[in-house]
Amino acid sequence: MIDLLQRQLDGRLIPEVYTALDTIASAQGKLLGAEEQIIARANNKRRQEFVAGRTLARRALQRIGYGATDIFAKDRIPIWPPSIVGSISHCKTHAIAAVAPRCKVLSLGIDVEENQAIPPDTIDMICHAEELGNSIDACYTATLVFSAKEAVFKAVSTTLPYIDFHDVRLQFSSASRSFLAQIRNGPSLHGSYFIDRVLIVTTTFIRAS
Ligand SMILES: CC(C)(COP(=O)(O)OP(=O)(O)OC[C@H]1O[C@@H](n2cnc3c(N)ncnc32)[C@H](O)[C@@H]1OP(=O)(O)O)[C@@H](O)C(=O)NCCC(=O)NCCS
Repeated sequence: MIDLLQRQLDGRLIPEVYTALDTIASAQGKLLGAEEQIIARANNKRRQEFVAGRTLARRALQRIGYGATDIFAKDRIPIWPPSIVGSISHCKTHAIAAVAPRCKVLSLGIDVEENQAIPPDTIDMICHAEELGNSIDACYTATLVFSAKEAVFKAVSTTLPYIDFHDVRLQFSSASRSFLAQIRNGPSLHGSYFIDRVLIVTTTFIRAS
């Protein structure tokens, strides 16, 4: 199942973006450099998700020919090598990382969620009515909307002031499994989504012109 989703990610994103997806349990590599400091006082669950994110970031970097490097963080925001943009996400069971050369992609955001319904009373906080369309099960569609907006947030968090869910308006195209995200008083980002029985993965990026 992971292989299938990984193949979809490889084939459907722009060629310059490389991803690595795995279960948290299977992605327990070694931390490098000062990464241990970030997680020194964390509980076991947090340690495992952090280690998985770093392990998969290095797997993704390897896919673009970049050697093993430590990825420190400030306020949880990963500090990538100067020539790289990237993003990390984890849900309960899985983790994912995406990277791209900065000369091709200005910023990148990725998010993974369990493919589950979100509580009905949180839908209005996350979604504009039109983002739910005529969906039969709004609670599942809202999980996709939530994921896409989290990915957008990660892609712009270092360049824009704090944005709220309602500051982002999504237009989905189900035929191409893509979306356009328009940020109020901000840029628009292209995005793609991937759904299987277990996971929802969303990615957004701004291409270098
Ligand atoms: C930080 C946030 C984006 C995601 O955190 P999360 O719930 O732990 O979800 P994920 O597992 O998908 O992502 C965590 C990873 O994102 C990265 N990250 C954290 N904060 C980040 C930020 N501000 N910008 C970019 N990446 C960030 C980190 O790599 C982190 O993993 P790590 O600490 O193990 O390295 C989110 O919780 C948050 O702070 N949201 C507030 C803003 C918001 O939701 N606005 C509405 C959306 S428009």
